[in-house]
Amino acid sequence: MVQETRLSVDQLIYPVFVREGKGIREEIPSMPGQYRFSPDTLVEELQSVRELSIPAVILFGIPAQEKKDPVGSAGYARDGVVCQALERARKQVPDLLLIADVCLCEYTDHGHCGIVKEGPVEGQRIVHNDETLEILARAALAYAQAGAHVVAPSDMMDGRVGAIREALDEEQLEHVPILSYAAKYASAFYGPFREAAESVPQFGDRKSYQMDPANSREALKEVELDLEEGADIVMVKPALPYLDVIFQVRQMTTVPLAAYQVSGEYSSLCAAFSQNWLQREATLMETLLAIRRAGADLILTYFAKEAAQILKKG
Ligand code: PBG
Repeated sequence: MVQETRLSVDQLIYPVFVREGKGIREEIPSMPGQYRFSPDTLVEELQSVRELSIPAVILFGIPAQEKKDPVGSAGYARDGVVCQALERARKQVPDLLLIADVCLCEYTDHGHCGIVKEGPVEGQRIVHNDETLEILARAALAYAQAGAHVVAPSDMMDGRVGAIREALDEEQLEHVPILSYAAKYASAFYGPFREAAESVPQFGDRKSYQMDPANSREALKEVELDLEEGADIVMVKPALPYLDVIFQVRQMTTVPLAAYQVSGEYSSLCAAFSQNWLQREATLMETLLAIRRAGADLILTYFAKEAAQILKKG
């Protein structure tokens, strides 16, 4: 009765990877217990997610290697892997909320989240912010038209929330909300995901567009800008190493706040569980409760299915 914070299955979002092909269900080596699915096998997985009362999933697409190009056109192709998955899921698992991650890194041959151009200094290559916006908007539009209920830009280009909002509104998709990865840090905890999504940057790093782990005022600025551009839900990512940021963002905004417990948080805990160094159920539930206590309304977590089972058991 006196418990101040509660964790409920209604607050969980399960991230899933969908790859081009048929009949695929392959375990991701860097993320034990997580799989890549093809659009056909994904549907079964989504049905089991829904049966556990998890309300939402976020989809990450992995195109065939030969479809990657400098601008990530496989990301916005209407017959691309995410659109295929959305169309099937919308029909076959109608009461599951479908969130589509919007980014370029899985679709570009250089692995960056934006378009790469020559910089002003000889030999320099830079990620071009403004030229990327149009591609992100095209991708978001394609996903919404294929049936995504929510679009979630994770690229961290400045101005992308506004660009996506405009593109959706022009096509009568005003009702599709934007979940913005507003405060996304240039974190080492994304390592296992990049292996899972085959999105390792082929040169350089993501520090020119993702945030410096040393900064928290900057996170508030990023959130403020995204809200001005029309973000409906804002996210802090990663979660556990950034509880102070979650707390501060909670104080400054009234919109729903999401936190992403990322791949490195998941895989490092799994490694400790497999050694029996940490008790699985107690530890994973403690991390989720702590993220809630800091102020997150929604949690994206690879533990979603397991947490749902634990909550069901009571
Ligand atoms: C794409 C993206 C990343 C993650 C979510 N969307 C990787 C990155 O920014 O390098 C990471 C999620 C995770 O680690 O679980 N930009």
